[in-house]
Amino acid sequence: MSAPETNMPHVARRMLSAKAEQFTESVIREMTRLALRHKAVNLSQGFPDFPAPNEVKEAARQAIADDINQYAITWGAKALRDAIVEKFRATQGITIDPEREITVCCGSTEAMMSSMMAIINPGDEIVVFEPFYENYGPDAILSGATPRFVKLRPLDWTYEERELAAAFGPHTKAIILNTPNNPTGKVFARGELEFIRDLCLRWNSYCITDEIYEHILYDGAEHLTMARIDGMRDHTIVINGMSKTYSVTGWRVGWAIAPAQVTQEIRKVHDFLTVGAAAPLQQAGALALKLPQTYYDNLAASYAQKRARLLHILESSGFTVYKPRGAYYIMTDISRFHFDESKYPAETRDVRFAKYLVEHIGVACVPGSSFYNDPQDGASQVRFTFCKKEETFAAAEARLAKLHL
Ligand SMILES: Cc1ncc(COP(=O)(O)O)c(C=O)c1O
Repeated sequence: MSAPETNMPHVARRMLSAKAEQFTESVIREMTRLALRHKAVNLSQGFPDFPAPNEVKEAARQAIADDINQYAITWGAKALRDAIVEKFRATQGITIDPEREITVCCGSTEAMMSSMMAIINPGDEIVVFEPFYENYGPDAILSGATPRFVKLRPLDWTYEERELAAAFGPHTKAIILNTPNNPTGKVFARGELEFIRDLCLRWNSYCITDEIYEHILYDGAEHLTMARIDGMRDHTIVINGMSKTYSVTGWRVGWAIAPAQVTQEIRKVHDFLTVGAAAPLQQAGALALKLPQTYYDNLAASYAQKRARLLHILESSGFTVYKPRGAYYIMTDISRFHFDESKYPAETRDVRFAKYLVEHIGVACVPGSSFYNDPQDGASQVRFTFCKKEETFAAAEARLAKLHL
């Protein structure tokens, strides 16, 4: 059928957002869809396949039964904000004001986006360590910031001080830090944080620090928030959430802790983006954040075992592994593998390998290029996650045994 004729002139215009067209769909989430399609063992996306703590689930059920079913206060239910204050004080020794310094959001993903939109102006730059959690790229584009990338290099994923100093300048509005780090497992040490602090103070920049893996630490590593480094309290925006610590990635509860003036702007952006996170789940969050220290000790101990299990499987299968000190991912090098690459048209070798692995071996991982600005930089790396139960490891082990160097 032909289009109805009108006398309206055809207006030539770009019909889609130039910003949205600059980035692709999430590679990590795409790998999960591929895993489902090929019935592969999914070691790509970082969501636990074991249950959340019973008492936390029970608290959510109770909150619905108690009719906590309407909008919470847009910047977060009072009980949850109070619990965040208490936990931050207990773990990091910092007292914050629940009325002026916290915004509860739909996951730390939204907390990061709302924070960026609250501080970025045209012409602003942000410094991002790479490899980086893939959301930070689109976060920069959508908020209008120009990213300046600084490499973390194996084996211990340190940065070069000269390189980092050169990335800062008069336009640097913020640096994005993620410690414990996804995908490398790096935990930033005090000396590294102090060097970053000096640059932030020199150039009057914020540090936005994503601390979502704060409790998942190994080999005696300690988590230190940038907010605790002398002089940084007023320059730090802490991003955190329930997803990883309580194994509830689908609940979508996170928060930003920021100085009052910044929080005022974050709250406005957050309100008009989402109004608020799910009210009953915020109520359950208030209980979760009061779990005893033994909960966090057991969480770290359990992940230490899972780390050992996956390290063993990957090393036995021929991967070169980078042992993480925190979070629940293992970055690997795939240079030693040979496979029929001609079947997998893709620009970089890591993507060809990841497709081969999911289709032929039946295991899903994340191609390294999705963590770099220049895909070639990740072409010899892929990432696996170990937030999985034993059956999943056993299935992955059996399948990876078919992989040859
Ligand atoms: C570093 C990092 N930040 C944030 C997120 C997302 O967190 P949330 O579920 O709270 O949005 C993830 C999830 O994998 C992550 O790895």
